[in-house]
Amino acid sequence: MNYDYIFKIIIIGDSNTGKTSIVKRLCENKFMSVCNGTIGVDFSTKITELENGIFVKSQIWDTGGNIKFKKLLRQYYKGVACIVVTFSLSSSDSFQSVPSWLDEIKNNIIDDNPPLIILVGNKSDVQHRIVSREEAEKFSKNNGLIYIETSAKINHNIKKLETCIVNNIYNNMDKSISGIQSMENHLKDNFNDNKQSRYNCCWLC
Ligand code: GTP
Repeated sequence: MNYDYIFKIIIIGDSNTGKTSIVKRLCENKFMSVCNGTIGVDFSTKITELENGIFVKSQIWDTGGNIKFKKLLRQYYKGVACIVVTFSLSSSDSFQSVPSWLDEIKNNIIDDNPPLIILVGNKSDVQHRIVSREEAEKFSKNNGLIYIETSAKINHNIKKLETCIVNNIYNNMDKSISGIQSMENHLKDNFNDNKQSRYNCCWLC
C-alpha cells in the first residue's frame, strides 16, 4: 500500500503495563490474555488515512519494559516523532516509574525538535483501578504531556490513541522535521552516493 509519510514511534514504560497489547490491538486488532514479555525491541507497522486523504505509515517500536533493556533502548530514540509512555491503571508502581521514563527520554533525545510525548494509562477495563484519572491528568498537565486512558483488552480508546499520534505529528510537521520525512526525501537520503544512515528509522536506515 502506498503512503506519503513515515512516522517513527516508540512505546516505553514498565513491564506488564500492556505495551505489546496496545501495539497488537492497534496493528492487528487482537488481544492475548497471556503474553510473553518483549525481549529487547519488536517492530510493527500501521497505515492510517488522515482526514485530508494523506496516508501515513507508523513504524512502532515496542520495547521490553525490563530494566535490563533500558540501555539497548537508547539507540532507538534517534529520529523518533512520538514516544508513548505507558503505565497500568492497576499498578501504582508503574505510575511511580513514569518520571524515570521521562528522565530517560530527556537524557537521550539529542534531536533539535523534541518528539511528541503521550502518557497512556492502560487497563482502563479493570474493576478496581489504583491510579485515579485525576492524579494522572494532574501529572500530565504539570509535565506538558497529552494523557489518554486505554484498554487494549476491550479496545477502549485505542483508535483515539492512533488518531492522536498521527494527527499531532502531522500537524506539527513544519515545525518538527525530526523523525518525519516525505518518502521522496527518505529514499534520496538513503540511496545517495555516500549511503550515510541519517534517521535510523526503518530497514532502509
Ligand atoms: P513487557 O513486554 O514485559 O514490557 O510487557 P508489556 O508492557 O508489553 O505488557 P503486555 O502487553 O505483555 O501485557 C502484560 C499483561 O497485561 C498481559 O497478561 C496482558 O494480557 C495484560 N493486559 C494488557 N493490556 C491489558 C488491558 O488493557 N487490560 C487488562 N485487563 N489486561 C491487559
